Amino acid sequence: MLLQMEQITKKYGDFTANEAINFSLREGEVHAIVGENGAGKTTLMRMLYGMEIPTSGSIAVRGKEVSFDSPRDAIANGIGMVHQHFMLFPSFTVAENIVIGTEPSSAIGFNRKQAVQQVKALSEKYGMPVPPEKKVSECALGTQQRMEILKVLYRGADIIVLDEPTAVLTPIEVKELLTAIKSLASQGKSIILITHKLHEVMEVADRITVLRNGKVTGTLNKTDTNIEELSRLMVGRELAPVIKQEPLQGKPVLKVRNLSLQGEGGKPVVDQVNFTVHAGEIVGIAGVSGNGQTELIQSICGLLPTHTGNISLLGTSLINKQPHQIRQAGLAHVPEDRYQWGSAKDRTVLDNGIMGFQRSKQKLGILHHKALRDMVAGWVKKFDIKTSSIHNTAQNLSGGNLQKLIVARELAQETPFLITAEPTRGVDIGAMEFIHDQLLAKRKEGGAILLVSSELSEVLKLSDRILVIYEGKIVGEVNGHEATEEAISLLMAGGGNNHE
Ligand SMILES: Nc1ncnc2c1ncn2[C@@H]1O[C@H](COP(=O)(O)OP(=O)(O)OP(=O)(O)O)[C@@H](O)[C@H]1O
Ligand SMILES: [Mg+2]
Repeated sequence: MLLQMEQITKKYGDFTANEAINFSLREGEVHAIVGENGAGKTTLMRMLYGMEIPTSGSIAVRGKEVSFDSPRDAIANGIGMVHQHFMLFPSFTVAENIVIGTEPSSAIGFNRKQAVQQVKALSEKYGMPVPPEKKVSECALGTQQRMEILKVLYRGADIIVLDEPTAVLTPIEVKELLTAIKSLASQGKSIILITHKLHEVMEVADRITVLRNGKVTGTLNKTDTNIEELSRLMVGRELAPVIKQEPLQGKPVLKVRNLSLQGEGGKPVVDQVNFTVHAGEIVGIAGVSGNGQTELIQSICGLLPTHTGNISLLGTSLINKQPHQIRQAGLAHVPEDRYQWGSAKDRTVLDNGIMGFQRSKQKLGILHHKALRDMVAGWVKKFDIKTSSIHNTAQNLSGGNLQKLIVARELAQETPFLITAEPTRGVDIGAMEFIHDQLLAKRKEGGAILLVSSELSEVLKLSDRILVIYEGKIVGEVNGHEATEEAISLLMAGGGNNHE
């Protein structure tokens, strides 16, 4: 066996994140790890990569027992890890990022030419194209992902851990990555893949280990299992299909008129966009990420000030308003990047939970500390946010649990309008179902919701109307109750007519 982890336990104080876990990896195997948010997947892999030290248990690589104090030790043993969040230097080139730390040098310092050649050779060998001389900041997320993998390969890894690699990728990029994973395995590399997407598991994995509450609930051969069994092992119950209710369209809440935004180089990133979101309605925006969705959201929220056109919320113009004034006018926002915009990771769950509430509760005269604490504790229970307490720091939460906290906070604002971008990114299938139910409940109470998601299945499941965005333009509108995945995909690829 290439890798054998035996009886691995990891405790944080009284909390057991991993309990007596047995996990093994064969040469040339793709082994998927699945499980609910907070089940302990990342923790297990952080121990393999030398970022955490097990409380007890043993790890053997190629039959030899090892103990790692740092990722450096793990790398020296041929183990590489690509994290849930990329760790690249945006202002460096692709080649520089890949070779950094182990770069080829000559008498006059860093050998750029050689680095570029090595990166080219590596990317050809494994069929993962990257532009070596481009800056990272100019690369799409799919390219950045390939860079992270190439970086690991450059360091000679033959055990490659990928922690939710497809969470931020477009459907085409996901396909490319899955192909690359298969090709790596066929060339003798061994892959550990953490993902919440069970169809990806069924496509590439040889074996699957399911974790639940820090324990292994099963290790299965892909050929002996199916999506239903895996979900049951993960969640411990059957999932119910969502039944979409009748349209409830009420009065207009958000109006966007002729909105345009210039990007770098004068090319519009949002181009003459017009739409309305009504009370009791979920309007979905579908599109391959990078087609202006981010800029559209940021201009509505007042985070990108310079634009032409008009945006109004319940009749109040939002132009030239500060983000907090826009929130007061009735907007809540689940941002697409929970680390950059959604949370302060060195603050507590409580602090993160009450962000934005201080103002409204202060209106009552005093800050009701107890009321705020009770409120956040209530969400922890309702959304099943796995945390030792509300005084835990946010960075100790698993990715999906932090996402649940942000969604809970924004829904609790009970605003007439909610923008929710990638609301279920990184959350497990049970939590996804729960969040979808909560969004539908808000709609039923008359809330107006703008849903921006790169998950087409999510947009189709929840939206009353779907607007397709392509190169900053709304290129089509379809009825969410009748739309098909094929029709929307076609529009997403640019095959549509202008809207309005
Ligand atoms: N440094 C830490 N201190 C305290 N608790 C921690 C720490 N790191 C992780 N945990 C806890 O351990 C549990 C497992 O976390 P982990 O990140 O492994 O989950 P996960 O399975 O990767 O979940 P997700 O799917 O949401 O990424 C979580 O409840 C988390 O809060
Ligand atoms: Mg994780």
